[in-house]
Amino acid sequence: MEIIVAKSAGFCFGVNNAVKTVNNLLEKQKDPIYTYGPIIHNAQVVDFLTSRGVVKVDDIDEADSNGHIVIRAHGVTPEIYKKILDKGLILEDATCPYVKKIHNLVKEKCEEGYKIIIVGDKNHPEVIGINGWCNNKAYIADTVEDLEILDESDEKICVVAQTTITKEKWVEITTALKKKFENILEFDTICSATSKRQNEAEEISKHVDMMVIIGGKSSSNTQKLYDICKKHCNLTYKIETSGDLPPVDIKKIKKIGISAGASTPDWVIEEVIKTMSELNKQGKVDIVEKDGEID
Ligand code: F3S
Repeated sequence: MEIIVAKSAGFCFGVNNAVKTVNNLLEKQKDPIYTYGPIIHNAQVVDFLTSRGVVKVDDIDEADSNGHIVIRAHGVTPEIYKKILDKGLILEDATCPYVKKIHNLVKEKCEEGYKIIIVGDKNHPEVIGINGWCNNKAYIADTVEDLEILDESDEKICVVAQTTITKEKWVEITTALKKKFENILEFDTICSATSKRQNEAEEISKHVDMMVIIGGKSSSNTQKLYDICKKHCNLTYKIETSGDLPPVDIKKIKKIGISAGASTPDWVIEEVIKTMSELNKQGKVDIVEKDGEID
């Protein structure tokens, strides 16, 4: 059996930075440490930090004013920054710089009179945060059908992307927008770490008998990896930990591909590989890392 692990599987730069911020605080601070929402979409990491005393709050009012509060990589609206500062909490901003760039962009273009369109999921915290920087006036489209109700008389349109959407979705929606509007400013803000991860996983899924995608249940980038790979490999499974591995007779499978969402820590990936190797019993297991170039 050969296990092919995508090089890009696991923590992205932004998530790594957010987790590091919390860990640094744990080492140096005696004051309470809060995260605004789960620091990342991974239950194992969140549980571990909770066991060390980090408290997740969903409302700033739940935090004591003598504490530190970490804003996660997804970013937040300007209202949340204000609430934190008004309360006297010490702000630890782990907003990913790529997301921060979108905040600045939509703010600037909104002030210049553009109607902002965000391609993405209106319920995702990153999108909610971005919308806050253009006064919550953006139109959020997740499908081409969502564009139908847009008023064609709008003259200036500026479109940006949630960082984790697929290139396919971006192209589909911006192509439809261009048919509807003449004056469009287009900013492809899909994170390069996301496209690299998606491309690698897709390429691997074309060459394996089974594909395993590891990530949190509420991680949208993990779900997207699953959707992409499922198109090429029928035996594609999405799991959170090694305990969720499907009841497949692994010994009959020659090549297994593995990728993982941006919030999946290395130790969870390693545990899955170890469990699969054990399930293969005495069989020989070759573990290789690939960046999408498959023989
Ligand atoms: Fe940032 Fe890209 Fe990760 S936007 S949080 S580095 S997926």
